[in-house]
Amino acid sequence: MDAKPANPHSARGENERKVFQRDRTPHIFRPIEFRSVRVRNRITMSPMCQYSAENGVAGDWHFQHLCSRAVGGAGIVFTESVAIEPRGLITSHCLGLWNDEQRDAYARITKFVKEAGAVPAIQLSHSGRKGAVGRPWEGGKPLTKEQGAWPLIAPSALAFGDGYQVPTAMDADTIAKTIELYAIAARRAREAGFQLIEVHAAHGYIAHEFLSPLANQRTDRYGGSFENRTRFLLEAIAAVRSEWPDDMPLFVRISATDWVEGGWDLESSVQLAQALKATGKVDLIDCSSGGLVQKQKPVIHPGYQVPFAAAVRSRAGIATSAVGMIYSPDMAEQIVANGQADMVSLGRAMLIDPYWPQRAAKVLRAEVNWPAQYERGDIY
Ligand SMILES: Cc1cc2nc3c(=O)[nH]c(=O)nc-3n(C[C@H](O)[C@H](O)[C@H](O)COP(=O)(O)O)c2cc1C
Repeated sequence: MDAKPANPHSARGENERKVFQRDRTPHIFRPIEFRSVRVRNRITMSPMCQYSAENGVAGDWHFQHLCSRAVGGAGIVFTESVAIEPRGLITSHCLGLWNDEQRDAYARITKFVKEAGAVPAIQLSHSGRKGAVGRPWEGGKPLTKEQGAWPLIAPSALAFGDGYQVPTAMDADTIAKTIELYAIAARRAREAGFQLIEVHAAHGYIAHEFLSPLANQRTDRYGGSFENRTRFLLEAIAAVRSEWPDDMPLFVRISATDWVEGGWDLESSVQLAQALKATGKVDLIDCSSGGLVQKQKPVIHPGYQVPFAAAVRSRAGIATSAVGMIYSPDMAEQIVANGQADMVSLGRAMLIDPYWPQRAAKVLRAEVNWPAQYERGDIY
């Protein structure tokens, strides 16, 4: 049925016109632009390790993992954390980007992800003191030498926890070389066809280890004050930007809190986001939490990290992504509609359902295109 036209001469008519003109597209299905890259909606598949690579090279598993989420309707499809050098792997089956063979294996994936309408994104990472562990389904424990453990590096010679390897504290030369590796990986990411890079500075890996006073006890220019502890990350970002075109987006994932008294906290995160915004190099802060120390005491419930994204967004004036136990389309819609975050990032929900965005569109009555081949898809 056609809507009754508004009376243009009455005050009520004016209001009616506004109502008729309102964009009825659900907020999570509104496109957004980061530099020259247009994202079709606000739904991101969060980076998730698949522990299924050999020599850091993406194979058929990664192809289906990433491409099926693109077909399923996500706006941004993230690789798992990708190591910038072999000793920055988490497990020996994680992905890497330190050679051309690895680069070329991603090219097949980025091409398909783009053809399916999503933005192919890569998360660049270095495991720091949390590397050299087994796959989760093999226990996830630190490897012994006999099992193939490799020597780890970190800001300070402090182990992640009992039974974990004590890393070697990085000297100034190692820090400089590691920063340079971010630039080299960024160049290969561009050559592989990625349209977005995220620097992983969360979950207790190397950049987070520099940020948090619980893992960084250095007394040089990379430790101590807030300015010194954030230096490694800022230099890594500058290195990435030196090889990553100005018109391409760069995100940073942080742990907004260590969930421990005396650790990195939300205030530090807001301050960091302000500093990152001031560089003009970063487009979005992806707000996760925890992972730095075993004694963390997180308070977990659906949407538990959303307040971090909201605080960073409002106080630093930079776009954010919310992540963590966002399951329902209504909840995702509320987060973006309320201005708590610009994007929602889904992990486990999309592991079980690559078509989460398509189903959410049905629930929220958004008009989105299914791939032509799947248009006859139905479940009831
Ligand atoms: C299997 C698995 C692997 C993950 N690997 C990564 C990773 O490589 N990088 C990262 O930043 N977070 C990783 N995460 C965390 C997720 O990206 C996400 O932040 C977390 O699961 C919370 O979101 P969810 O409740 O929607 O799953 C991983 C999570 C899972 C379940």
